[in-house]
Amino acid sequence: MRYQDKDYQTVWLENGRLFIIDQNQLPFEFTIIELHDIEQVYEAIKIMKVRGAPAIGAVAALGYALAIGKGEDIHRSYQLLLSSRPTAIDLQNGLDFVKQAIARQITGAGIKAAAIGAAQQFTDNIANECLLIGKYGNELIADNCRILTHCNAGALATVDYGTALAPMREAHYAGKNIFVYVDETRPRLQGMRLTAWELAQEGIDHAIIADNAAGYYMQQGKIDLVITGADRIARNGDIANKIGTYSKAVLAKENNIPFYIAAPFSTFYRQLLSGRDIPIEERPAEEVLTFNGVALSSGLSGALNPAFDITKAKYISGYITPAGIFNKKDFDKLWEMNIKVQNSGQI
Ligand code: MRU
Repeated sequence: MRYQDKDYQTVWLENGRLFIIDQNQLPFEFTIIELHDIEQVYEAIKIMKVRGAPAIGAVAALGYALAIGKGEDIHRSYQLLLSSRPTAIDLQNGLDFVKQAIARQITGAGIKAAAIGAAQQFTDNIANECLLIGKYGNELIADNCRILTHCNAGALATVDYGTALAPMREAHYAGKNIFVYVDETRPRLQGMRLTAWELAQEGIDHAIIADNAAGYYMQQGKIDLVITGADRIARNGDIANKIGTYSKAVLAKENNIPFYIAAPFSTFYRQLLSGRDIPIEERPAEEVLTFNGVALSSGLSGALNPAFDITKAKYISGYITPAGIFNKKDFDKLWEMNIKVQNSGQI
């Protein structure tokens, strides 16, 4: 991700130290912070300084590896990080990737090196897979395409490049004229604060719309394609993603607009048969009732704040993956590919 003529990743290790871009400060401040210990990694995920399924997986893997290197309790560290957020499966996949690598070691030095090596590989895989998602997803984007996206599935949410935003970047680099409708994404405004900021950095033409406006633009024939990310993809193709994704998918079907999910292999979870069993995070009511400490309601009402919803496979036209674009017909091939990647770490 390029910012003021410098390339950044969202999450990275430098001389054995873990850094992130603090996403809670964007778009007003671009702040880099160091996470010194596993408690800080846990806190950063929980309060969403780092967020987006693949980015959570990467920071958890790196934080876990550093904790192992410092001789902290392997089981406690795993459980603490796993408990930071429940919906994105990338978190568990990142921790498991490290755990499997250390299980093969016998010496203390071997364990430390294996943990760091695996965490870095998991992180690099995500960035590389996002590049491929961009390449394949670009094929769906015609010149003058008008695309809707929800939440932030850009470089900030991954390690670099993005999932849903990767095809848009690629289309833009290929010289295609595109326009992106950015759902603001209440209550935490990841679309307005983060996606719009990323698109602005890239010079991609876009506008922020209120979440409720998407149906109107679809009905007007002004949206050609919807692409979002996912936090977990079940065996039958159901997905969990940011609250509001489901209603966009239903609206897209009603208006005959293709609706695609873009995701790296860390987001797939074949052990789960359907979306029905995906745990949905319930976040604090304050996120709905206030913004940056400013009250948005009278103070007399409570609020409910589910952070994700489930979109059934029947609403999804296809899945943009690092191995190509799949639909439900060839889903078995996708899972075979997924098993290979998760076993070898290679595409
Ligand atoms: O609560 P968030 O901001 O972590 O939710 C993020 C999303 O829902 C993204 O769409 C998803 O993680 C995919 S990111 C490539």
